[in-house]
This record gives sequence, C-alpha cells and structure tokens, in this order.
Amino acid sequence: MRIKHLRVNHLENPIGYDFSYLKLSWNVEETAAKYSDEVQVIISETEDMNSLAYDSGIMHDFRQCSLEVQLNLKPRTRYFWKVFIGVHAAGLQSAEKAESETAWFETAKMEEDWEADWISVPENKRMPVLYRDFEVKSRIKKARLYIFGAGLYEVDINGTKAGDEYLLPGYHSYDLLMEYQTFDVTEIIKEGDNRISVLLGEGWYKGRFGFDDVYLNLYGDRKKCIAELYLEYEFGGTTRIITDAGWKAFAGNILENGIYDGERQDDTLKYEQLPVEVLQDDKSLLTARTNPPIRKTEEFNPISEEIHKDGYVLLDFGESITGWVEFYGILEKEQQIKLQYGEVLQNQEFYRENLRTAKAEFVYTSDGKERNVRPHFTYYGFRYVKVEGLRDHQKLIFHAYRIMSDIEETGSIYTSNTKVNKLFENTIRSQKCNFLDIPTDCPQRDERMGWTGDANIFANTACFHMDSSAFFRHYARSLYLEQKLMKGAVPFFAPRPKVPVRENTNPFYLDGGACIWSDAATMIPWTLYKYYGDVPLLREQYPMMKLWVEYIRMRSRENEVPDLWQNDRHLGDWLALDNGNIHNPIGKTDSQFLASACYYQSTLAVAETAGVLGLEEAQEYLELAERIKKAFIDFYFTKEGRLNIEMTQTACAFLLNIGLYPDHAKENLKEELKHLIEENNGHLNTGFAGTPVLCPALSENGMNSLAYDLLLNEEYPGWLHEVNLGATTVWERWNSLDENGVISGTGMNSLNHYAYGSIADWMYRYMCGFQPDIDKKINMIIRPMPDKRFSYVKGKWKSVFGTYVSNWSYQEQTGFQYDIEIPFNANAEIVFPNGKRCLLECGTYHFDNNGESL
Ligand code: BGC
Repeated sequence: MRIKHLRVNHLENPIGYDFSYLKLSWNVEETAAKYSDEVQVIISETEDMNSLAYDSGIMHDFRQCSLEVQLNLKPRTRYFWKVFIGVHAAGLQSAEKAESETAWFETAKMEEDWEADWISVPENKRMPVLYRDFEVKSRIKKARLYIFGAGLYEVDINGTKAGDEYLLPGYHSYDLLMEYQTFDVTEIIKEGDNRISVLLGEGWYKGRFGFDDVYLNLYGDRKKCIAELYLEYEFGGTTRIITDAGWKAFAGNILENGIYDGERQDDTLKYEQLPVEVLQDDKSLLTARTNPPIRKTEEFNPISEEIHKDGYVLLDFGESITGWVEFYGILEKEQQIKLQYGEVLQNQEFYRENLRTAKAEFVYTSDGKERNVRPHFTYYGFRYVKVEGLRDHQKLIFHAYRIMSDIEETGSIYTSNTKVNKLFENTIRSQKCNFLDIPTDCPQRDERMGWTGDANIFANTACFHMDSSAFFRHYARSLYLEQKLMKGAVPFFAPRPKVPVRENTNPFYLDGGACIWSDAATMIPWTLYKYYGDVPLLREQYPMMKLWVEYIRMRSRENEVPDLWQNDRHLGDWLALDNGNIHNPIGKTDSQFLASACYYQSTLAVAETAGVLGLEEAQEYLELAERIKKAFIDFYFTKEGRLNIEMTQTACAFLLNIGLYPDHAKENLKEELKHLIEENNGHLNTGFAGTPVLCPALSENGMNSLAYDLLLNEEYPGWLHEVNLGATTVWERWNSLDENGVISGTGMNSLNHYAYGSIADWMYRYMCGFQPDIDKKINMIIRPMPDKRFSYVKGKWKSVFGTYVSNWSYQEQTGFQYDIEIPFNANAEIVFPNGKRCLLECGTYHFDNNGESL
C-alpha cells in the first residue's frame, strides 16, 4: 500500500498561501484493500515529526481521502505532515499499514505588520531595477523573501531568478487586496556579498488594459514594491533586509511593455542610476496569496520556419499557445528584430486583425552578444509568429513556452473517433490557454478579462479537465470583493477595472447583475463542492452565493410579477444563431425568461449549500425557490403546458436541465426541442446559455442519439466544423472562420475561447457517465450512455479519492461492454442504459451489454 499525492487545499507543498482553512488530502494506491480502517494524520513543526502541532489520533472506519484540520497557525512557519493508514479488511492475507512521505505547507506573514516600506522610482521609459547589496557573515540556515511588486515583478538574487514563476503577482483586484508571494531563497543566498534585485514592469496594474478605450494606470500610476527578506543563520540569530531608503535603483533594458501590446527590450542602453523614493502608501491590503503558481508548463519547437517572399521569417508552432517565444543566438550590435504574434493565417499570409488594438509584439535591440532573450511582462495568444529584421546568414533558435496556472490535469477521454478526440483536446487546450491566473475569455486580443459568464458555463468542464479548485478559489476572492462593492450585483468580469467614467464608457465596466454572467457567484462554488467536496471552501464562498441571490430578490421586488426577475438588462443567450441577424450577438431566447430561470437555479444552489452547511435558512431558500418556480410556471406556461414565449432550443434545453416546468409540460418541451433541432436541419443554434445544457438535456430526456448527432455533425454550425477547419482550440463563434477558412469578422472573433468547449462536460457526464457528488454517501453515479457510432470510448477522471475509469466498447455480436474502475475509499453507483443499477466499491469491474458482471 502506498499513500501518495499529499495536497493542502489542492496545492502541493504550498509556501506563503492563505490558510484560513486547511483541507489535507491524499490518495492510496497499490493495495488489495478497498477502504482505510484506521487513519491518523499528524502535523509537526519539525521535519523529524517530533514537535507535534496536531494529531488526529487514530480515526477508525475513516473512509475518506481528505481531512479538514483546525489548527492555530503561526506566521512564517513550515509545518510538516504525514498520514498513516491501516487496513484490516476481510479477505486480505494480513493487515496492512502504510506511512506516507512527509509533505509540508508554510505560512506567510499572517497578521504580522510589514516593517518594510513601499519603494519606487520616478516613472521612466525604462523599467527600473531596484536593488540592495548586503553581506552575509555566516552560514544561512533559512532565507525567506516576502514580496509584492506592482505592476509585475521578477526577483533576482546574485544572478539567479527567485522561483520558477512568471507574471507575478498575477492578476487580482489590486484595489481591494494585494496578494504577496513568499520565496524560499535559502539556496541562492551565499556567504559574503549578495545582491537582491527587483525588476518592475507595468502589467495589469498600470499598463494599457481594458477594451473599447485606452486605459492606463488602472490601479495606480507608479510602479512600486515592498519586500522583506528574513535570514536565519545556522549558528543562531536572524537579520532582515527590508525595502527602505537604503535601496538603490537603475534603469533596466526593458522599455514599453504591456499585457496587450508586448514588450520592447534594448540591450544597447547605457547605465543610468535612478533615485529611490520611499512611499507612505497603505499596506493594509497586503495579504497572502491564493493563486496556484504561474509557470512555464510546456515547450514547443516550431513545426515550420519559412522565409516569406517579403523577407520575414514565419514560425508555425503547430497549435494555439498562450505564453511567449524565446530566442537564442547572436545578433549584430544595434540590430533590431521584431516578433509579431497571430492566431491564424489568411491566404497563407500572417494575419492578426482579430487581435483588434493589441499590438502583441516583441521588439529587441541587440548589444551584439550571445543571449537568450525572452519577454518578462507580457504574454501572447498565438500559433504563428512573424519575425522581421533577421539578416540572411543569421540563425536564431526559437522556442515557444506555454505559461499558465500550473494546476494538475485530471481528466481524459479517448475515443474511436479521431475528430472527436481532436475536439476534446481542443477544449483542454483552450482551458490551458485561458487559465492564466484568472479564467480569461481569450488570450490574444485587447480583452483577456475574467468574464464571469464564460467562467460560469465552463466551470464544470474545467473541473473535469483539471483540478481547478485553488484556481477558482483565487478568482472567487476577487469576485466577492467586487460584488460587495457593487452591493451584490456581481460584475461582468472580475477583477473589474474601475475605468474613468466618461460619456461613452462601455457599461460593462460599470454595471453588474446579469443572469448567466453573475450566476458565476453561485454556480462556481456549487460546482466546486460537487466535484471536490470541500465543505470549508463552500463555507468561505457561501456569503458570495447568498449575496447574489439576495440581490436578485431585491431586484425582483421591483418587478411587476412578484418572484420573477424581468426588470434588468441581460446578455441572454449570447452569440446564439437563432435571432436571424448575425450582427446582433443576443440570441432569440427571451432574456427575462432566462433571468428568472437563473434566479431559480441560483436560489436552489444557495438552499442546497445552506443545507450542507447546516444552516437553518436552508428552508427559507427552498421556499423561495418554490415560489419562483410557481411564479415562473404561471407566467411562462399555458394551462396546457406549452411555453408562451417563442420557443428556442436554448429555452427548452435550459428548462429541461433545471427541472423548471409543470410536470405535464415535460413531454411538450422534449418534443419541441427535438422539433427545433430537426427544423434546423439537425443543427444546433444555441449560444452561451444554451450550448452547455443542450446535449445534457437531450441525453437526460430520451434523446441521447440526437445528442450524439449534434456532436458528430461536421457541418456549420457544430463542433466538428471547426475541427475540420484545423482548429486547435475552441472558437468564440460557431462561424469564427467560414467554410473556406476565411475569418468571418474582426470585431469580436477569437479562435481561443473556451465557452463552447463545455461539450466536453457532456462527454464526461453522459458519454462516459461520470456524475460526481463527492461529498455524498455515494460519491459518484456512473451512467454511461453509449452510442454504436463509436467502437470504443475510454474515460478517466482523477477525483480527490483517486482515478475513476469508465470505458465502453461496442461490437456487433456482443453489443456494449463496460469496464469500470473505482478508486480507494470511494464508491459509485453504476447505471446501465437498460436501467439496471449496482453499487460498486473500490476495484475493477467488467459488465456485458445487459449490465451483467463478466
Ligand atoms: C467576451 C465574452 C464575454 C462577452 C460578454 C466578449 O467580448 O469575449 O466572451 O462574455 O463579451 O459581452
């Protein structure tokens, strides 16, 4: 028996995080036992585990792979922890015992005051390097750096970059909190002379950011940093190096830089000292980080490198990437090269009109020395790079790197259909490309914001593909602070830049409170709970969920019809194709109808959450949900059980999916949905609201084969249409490129938008049948709904317990065969297409077409 994969709040050996709650988890493998009988978790302040801070004692019949621990933590302290497991299950040769390796987590400064001051330099075209020289007189035992830099920063100590992360401090609502980082720098500080340098850039904080206008200095007009370096000596004693008037600065080689426009670097610039100023800025927003590390997770070589007839070099990296290109080699002194990034070629030519105003370039002037050059304070969404300025004989080595929040991949599906596999991979790739500290809508154009609607509708898929718990916790932290500022009206994106209000300011910056988008505040926490079962996280997020429903309740009081929400502006079924006007992004489905349906869905989520948390108000929210349902049915259904608004695929699928109809109307809704698809020549025409629920509604309601038709449809509009046109990520629009590969418009047209990738949720949930409810007595329903058009489907999902497998195959003689695996301590109820059910515990199982054991 082996105990593996020790995590704290879903993070591996996290340093400097916010630990307002502690949920420890582990996996058990390599045992014939199915459950743990005895579990003990200990936490110590020393690695030898002799100085115990916590001991769970032996917990009998403990059939979990995670534990919430209550512990009064000390600041700047590393805690080591271990799990011991014993099994004495019947049927085993002998009792087994195992001890995990030691894992750890380390606190940040917690409530400790910052002794350091904010330091800055006068704003200059060149990015500053603030530094401090110091001498270390004896051997270092432990060195920790606590630091926040605005806009973006990188730390270097004695020529070595501290940590393996980029684009720190990441993106969050800097006006409401400032998440600082903690680095273990013990290895890079040496006895003798040392230099710590902090390079600052513009970033989201003060560089150009935001669509529809030029916004600068959104969070502040000065770059600045604050840092405390704690040194602990082997022979006792400590010292501290803190940012103060003793620091110096010079102007570095980085010139203009920004998230959208890219970066300019010039290695020919002369040394220029800069005066350091101490700022009296507020430090109260500084708080420990929550975001998973932002790292390089993949490296790519160009699949082709061609010299274009106009003299530039065109690099093709073969797939969409979010990150940047680095190059290595020698250029001539003062030679300048320029890289421009684009997503797609048009007529075999480099193209980037759909990036709108984002310049997305990198300009470098060489000092003639051999170098590895990379950007520091920007990123790009691209597949193609145009390189200008190289001379005939010159050869540089180019590599692209994916930069993303480094979270673990947990899901995979592999089928007998190559195109479906490509589609599935594209949905994962779009998540990778848009999970860069916050869930962005797209990674390439002048937008890249944390749109709440996109995050909401993709959250289920995201939690299958990757362990998205910590990532969404980080996002929700900003979301809740922004929501509170808006008195409950959840904004369209979080963080919400507070742009200067002008006459024509886009209302997206100013308003909030729209269905689907704002429902992120209820649906994301509820999704996280279903997938990961973390009660403390749900408890942390409950105030946000409740505040959102209370906001709608307040709005609905002003509505003519009590208990419905029909009095605000919504985006409704965004980008649906059913309104007959391709230029109008709002689909045909009545937005007020959708808003009231979402009000019901969010209220139910709050009621269920209150139930899980043991709160009395659960009943009140349940009653509210019942009232909304009644009002909804009275208003939107005729006595005969027909919808009295214009029927759309989205309207039918949405209601079927959340059970919002009078019982006698169900058959009508089903028929109507089928009819609407047939009427549209077997194609979908749904947008953001309808697409995630369309195939689930079909599979749940006896039309599974129609769901497969939609999946397999290769014509426009449909998912495989874009696969056929060479997409490597999911497009924003069903017609982002037309049949000939010509881009359909440039106003709002990204080739890397994960929203419609929510079809992967259906693939996990219905094709493979994974329906997790991890905190329940039965952790998972596995209800595969196969289709003969596939000869096999192999699905995996790694939960907190470990990996569930659901594979099926089809042969004409024998029909379907199912292979199921359930991880240690978990269970699952498997439901076969013929309705047969059985409860399985940990193990590997095989069933025939009728659900009989093989
Ligand atoms: C974004 C979205 C977003 C939408 C809402 C777009 O510009 O890219 O995906 O949800 O605006 O209006």
